[in-house]
Amino acid sequence: MANSCIVGLQWGDEGKGKIIDALTEEYDIIVRYQGGANAGHTVIVDGKKFVMHLIPSGVLHPGKCCVIGNGVVLDIEQLLLEIDELKAAGVEIGGNLFISDGAHIVFPYHKLIDSLSEKQKGDDKIGTTGRGIGPCYVDKMGRTGIRAGDLYFDDYFKERLKSILDHKNTMLTKVYNVDPLSFDEIYDKYRNFAEKIKPYVCDSVDLLNDSLKHNKSIMFEGAQGALLDVDFGTYPFTTSSNATVCGAPAGTGVSPKQIHRVIGIMKAYTTRVGSGPFPTEIEGELGLEIQNKGGEFGATTGRPRRCGWFDAIAVRHAAMINGADSAVVTKLDVLDGQKTLKVCVGYKSGSKMYSRFPTCLSAFTECEPIYEEYPGWDEDTSNITDKKSLPKNASAYINTLEILTGIKVELVSVGPDRKQLFEY
Ligand code: GDP
Ligand code: IMO
Ligand code: MG
Repeated sequence: MANSCIVGLQWGDEGKGKIIDALTEEYDIIVRYQGGANAGHTVIVDGKKFVMHLIPSGVLHPGKCCVIGNGVVLDIEQLLLEIDELKAAGVEIGGNLFISDGAHIVFPYHKLIDSLSEKQKGDDKIGTTGRGIGPCYVDKMGRTGIRAGDLYFDDYFKERLKSILDHKNTMLTKVYNVDPLSFDEIYDKYRNFAEKIKPYVCDSVDLLNDSLKHNKSIMFEGAQGALLDVDFGTYPFTTSSNATVCGAPAGTGVSPKQIHRVIGIMKAYTTRVGSGPFPTEIEGELGLEIQNKGGEFGATTGRPRRCGWFDAIAVRHAAMINGADSAVVTKLDVLDGQKTLKVCVGYKSGSKMYSRFPTCLSAFTECEPIYEEYPGWDEDTSNITDKKSLPKNASAYINTLEILTGIKVELVSVGPDRKQLFEY
């Protein structure tokens, strides 16, 4: 069976959740491999809205196996909330959910340090989701993290938490001038959490590899997007994990040779939440119009998303890093009624021209977009169910995106509902 990886090709929120849900029937297992509760993946079924932060977006399909991989940083409090919400909405959560014993746990000090460090940065803040993601990955790489499986070795967990918290409390009191956190409170709370998630915790590396041996198929669910990838995005205005396909093998323990297809998700325009350069950002009324029409408000934090024109240079870079085999264009309907559509085909900075995505922030910050313009369409595309019925200019726009980014578009999404999707 072919295994696929679904990735965002922009700054996140491309509509990955919707597409993963729509494709889930073709796979046996859906696995999240990086990020944490910073993600907000929306699925709308018959008008009912579900937002997944940690649980894979395939969960709405009964019988599918949903795995939170070792590369994810796990906020247990958020996970328990999510389980309760899904159960209350009638979604089955039980033997279909698996949590890697290697997933690093997000502790209260991670969230606190995330917010204090942002405050300290002032105008230079990253604009994080405040979910403790960066500080938890810092501990993972610094080898001062605690993993899900560690919670069940009480002596080890207790000693390790004590020594880590001592160090964090020194930082909290001496660097940030705030009160220390209580060991007893955190220890008791997380011991209780550990019992609650115990039925789901397993050796996910064995689970996934055994499943492959039994010809099961896997869909790897990327969170965030390539431009937020810690190596290939607009560093330091990125998240702290590899949001490209590069994160999938490390975040699951499945060999890269087992990922047969990469499907990139791209919005018909661009959005970004938080700080950082965004050359094609549309300031003023038109930006607000797209924001409102597209419902561009964060699924995790509710923050308004900055909106801009499609950046073909950035998406081409994302497609290259991911080795994207095909793309899905989402939110085409949001552009209905625009007279003219701009697409960025290069950058300029003074007399310097860029035809590729620059690595360094200082260079990218100075980049101004070079646009090509294309005619828009007046028709409402949200009821369209096949390629043939698309307005001529809408098809021409998609064909242009294919040429400029070098990826074949296989699906087009024209609304938030599961059904508003057709082959291209
Ligand atoms: P993700 O993080 O990539 O899963 O994306 P989000 O769920 O954060 O944001 C995408 C938003 O756009 C959600 O509110 C979706 O319901 C919505 N959405 C997805 N596809 C479409 C589409 O084709 N058209 C419109 N209008 N909305 C869409
Ligand atoms: P999904 O999976 C959009 C952004 C934050 C911030 C930066 C770092 O829904 O596409 P972090 O909390 O990760 O340290 O924040 O990354 N960010 C996202 N933007 N969609 C996401 O996830 C994001 N996850 C993080 O806004 O700019
Ligand atoms: Mg999102």
